[in-house]
Order: sequence, then structure tokens, then C-alpha cells
Amino acid sequence: MTNALATQDPAGGPGRDATTDEVLVVDFGGQYSQLIARRVRECGVFSELLPADVGVEEVARRAPRGLILSGGPASVYAEGAPALDRGLLELGIPVLGICYGMQLLAHALGGTVERAEVGEFGRSELTVREPGRLLRGLPREQACWMSHRDSVMRPPPGFTALASSTASPVAAFEDPARGIYAIQFHPEVAHTPYGQQILTTFLEDICGAERRWSAASIVDEQIARIRAQVGDGHAICGLSGGVDSSVAALLVHRAIGDQLTCVFVDHGLMRKGEGEQVVAAFRDTFKVPLVVVDAEARFIERLAGVSEPETKRKIIGTEFIRVFEEEAAKLEGARFLVQGTLYSDVIESGGRRGSATIKSHHNVGGLPEDLAFELVEPLRMLFKDEVRAVGAELGLPERLVWRQPFPGPGLAIRIVGGEATKARLDLLRDADHILQDEIRKAGLYRELWQSFCVLPDIRTVGVQGDERTYGNVIVIRAVTSDDAMTADWARLPYDLLEQIASRMMGELREVNRVVLDITSKPPGTIEWE
Ligand code: XMP
Repeated sequence: MTNALATQDPAGGPGRDATTDEVLVVDFGGQYSQLIARRVRECGVFSELLPADVGVEEVARRAPRGLILSGGPASVYAEGAPALDRGLLELGIPVLGICYGMQLLAHALGGTVERAEVGEFGRSELTVREPGRLLRGLPREQACWMSHRDSVMRPPPGFTALASSTASPVAAFEDPARGIYAIQFHPEVAHTPYGQQILTTFLEDICGAERRWSAASIVDEQIARIRAQVGDGHAICGLSGGVDSSVAALLVHRAIGDQLTCVFVDHGLMRKGEGEQVVAAFRDTFKVPLVVVDAEARFIERLAGVSEPETKRKIIGTEFIRVFEEEAAKLEGARFLVQGTLYSDVIESGGRRGSATIKSHHNVGGLPEDLAFELVEPLRMLFKDEVRAVGAELGLPERLVWRQPFPGPGLAIRIVGGEATKARLDLLRDADHILQDEIRKAGLYRELWQSFCVLPDIRTVGVQGDERTYGNVIVIRAVTSDDAMTADWARLPYDLLEQIASRMMGELREVNRVVLDITSKPPGTIEWE
């Protein structure tokens, strides 16, 4: 959701201080473009995605140490295919083309790109024929990951072909004198075992970039920015218990101390112990001014008689805004609102500065457009793994740093096909607690994207202690995923499933059946509602 709130303007500058080197990724729409930027940052060099039509002036103004041209779905021969601005090659900045980026370079500089109907997808064998500068130190034979149709048959004049692959006669080329390098395969994916080494060579040896970007440098730099933005003003932050809002709040608290007040709305739809953990961390350990609103009764009253999922979501979202607004009104003089917006949200919402994205899972339904706050978004330039690293750097408890994603409407949308009553919420919370407990004990919590229980509004027949029962069914849902766009059902060990099921049926009187959801996404979704 975008809205019209004033956003933190990074003054046209990047999310780093002026002395930190950066290498920019020009995004031609490839599925791995974000991953390239992440890998560059993992090497300790700041990186940001720029749109393909960024313009030479903007790049020159930013004065990056290097440029990476990303992959993309197009063929250089397709009508409307994103083109290469030749001016980018005249800036004296080293350039690395990856996949489509390589084909653009070949096409623009007089090499031969051949159209192909059948491409090269997946694992391929790379043979380094001439290491040159880019592939120096690599073994002659190695695996790499390919994802392309068209192929470069001949490098441009003056360039040296460095390698070939199973289906690509020219899988890498370079001209160190012009500072232009290119590879057909994807160094950013784990299936290219020497990929990170190639990126490091490009960043260190070729671009001469200093590797100073780290969780500690992010903290220092963001604190300075927040202080500059907020001055002696007052800010509020809605805590959800999730890692993003927690880290955003802690960073801001480090920067402006008690000028920040956090508001935690306990809507009674959280998992067991979650509210207590937030209070323990923020109020007791970090001494952050914290307002805790016990709004359980209000939410449950509003949800009475409602079983349609989108109606539940709307009611919860609206009620959340009401409670938050009531609390904000009590904090006179707060002009700033802290949001845990991440870089991936910024990219997904078009990446334009000034388009504030309100994450729905931070604040349930999103805050309304007419809240008169200026946004403070200290995570706006960070990937999720960097947010976790910053959280750990700030001393956030491990449990909060590694918390699995949890939907804003909480347990209410996991009571499926029925009303979210207090009794049902309590039952689901207890079942969920058993599941989490066993998954943590098995050491699997971090490996799973999400693990949770669903309580469908049905009863089934059972027999417990010689008695016929008519009890509740608990569904176990556990998935692995990278980004929630796709997900695979997790292959939990049978012994673990057995242990979870017998605990649920032994400890929860109302449960007489436990089932496992083995649906991937697609075709299913992660949540049931
Ligand atoms: P689905 O079920 O669509 O979920 O595969 C993808 C991710 O989004 C989360 N999710 C929500 N988060 N409000 C949220 O803040 C919601 O209404 C909501 N519904 C789903 C879900 O937990 C998963 O991580």
C-alpha cells in the first residue's frame, strides 16, 4: 500500500555515508537483480538497484566504484527491449555485465549475439580457457548456473573470450583496458560455487572498492541520519513484535533516546508469550518508553459472529488504526512516525523516493493516509538479512531477531471458516505453542520460513479413554521459502510429527485429531485464509 505520507527524504543520497564505496546494479528486470545487490553487500561494499533508464548524469553524480548490468528476461533483438546507454561505458567506471547485461554489451560493442529458441537453463559446466583478470585464480573446470536463450558467439573486437560453457561458446569476456567485463552465468546464485569469488575480484581488484559496509557501519550511519532528521522532535513507533519494527525502534532509540515512544497494541491475536517478550525486551532491557495497550476484549468483541476472512482482516485493520490513533493523540507533540519499511518493499513499490510504503504486517491494515506524521524509515535501504544482523548488533534477543514472519491479523485468520472466539484463540495459541516448542527443540525453527497451526471450524469423531469424542482438528503447516512468493511444504521428520501430535492430543482436551498440510505454494497459499 502506498500513501501520501511525507517520507524520509534521503536528500537524493544513498543509504550510506559519503565515504563508503558503492557499486550500483543497473536493473534490467532480471529475477536475480536484488540478489546481486545483496551479494555485493555481503562482500562489504554498499550496493543499490537503479532502474535501467537511470541516466548517465545520475550515475556520474553518484560516482560509484563500479557498475553491474543485471540480467533480464528480454532478448536484445526484441522490440522494446531495455537498451544500454553507451554513455555509461564512457564514465571511466568499471562495468560488469551479467547474463542479459553481457548480451547488451556484446550487442552494443560489435560482438555477435545469436538468437536461440532453446536456451541454457540451470546447471552448466564452465571451462575457463583464459582466466584474464576477472576469472583469475579459478579452476579450469567448474559448475555455473545459466538462465538465458540468446548466446554470445563472438566477443566484441578488442575483447578477450575467457570461458565457454556446455551451450555457450562465449560464457565470459573482458577488455581490462576499457574496464569492461562480462559473464553469461549468474555469480550471485548458490549454484555457481565460485560466484562470490568472481564478484570479490570485480569489487576489490577491478573496482578497488573498500569493503567497509557492515552491520556496525549501518548502525553508526543510520543513527547520524536519524538525529539529523528528527533533531529534538518526538517520534512514535508501533511495535508488532516482528523483527523489522523491533530493529527500527531500537535504532531510533539509540539515536534520540527518550524522544521516542513505542506503542504496542496487544490485540489478543498474538502467539503465546509474544506480548511479554516485547515488553521484557523493550521496557525492561532497553528502557524504551513503551505504551502497552491491552485491547484484546475490544478486538474479540468486534470479531464476534464474523467468519469471512477478508471481513476479519478489515475489522482488525480498522480497529488497530483506531487504537493506534487514540494512543498517538495522547502523545502530544509527536511529529515523526517510525516505520520498519525494508529495501525489498521500496523496490517492489517502484523504488521511487517519496513513495512511502506502509507494510501491512507491521501495523495490520496499514495506517490511514491522513495521519499527519513525517516518516522515519531507518531500514529503507536494508535487506532482511541485514536487518537481522543490525538487530543482533544492537543486542536484540535472538528470539526476536530470528522470529518467523507472522501476519498482522494474527491467529484470527488461522481459525478457518469460523468465528475467532476467545476460546478458539486460546486453543489455537496452545496448539501453536506446542508446535513451536517442539520445532525449536528439534533445532529446525530457523530453517523454516514459517511454522504454525490452523484450526478449521469442523469437528471429527474420536475415541479417547474408551469414550467417543467429537473434537477439534489441528492442522500443522510448516513451509520453507525465500520470500513467501513461493513455498514448499517442509519435510518434518516423522518422529517429530509424532511427538507434536501426541503432545497436542494429550495436553489439549478439545483436540482429538492432528493432520499435516502437504501443499506447496503455488497452488496453495501459506496461510489458509
Ligand atoms: P500467503 O498466505 O498469501 O502469505 O501465501 C504470504 C505471506 O504473507 C503473510 N500474510 C499476511 N501478512 N497480513 C499480513 O501482514 C495479512 O493479512 C497476511 N496474510 C498473509 C503470510 O503469513 C506469509 O508470510
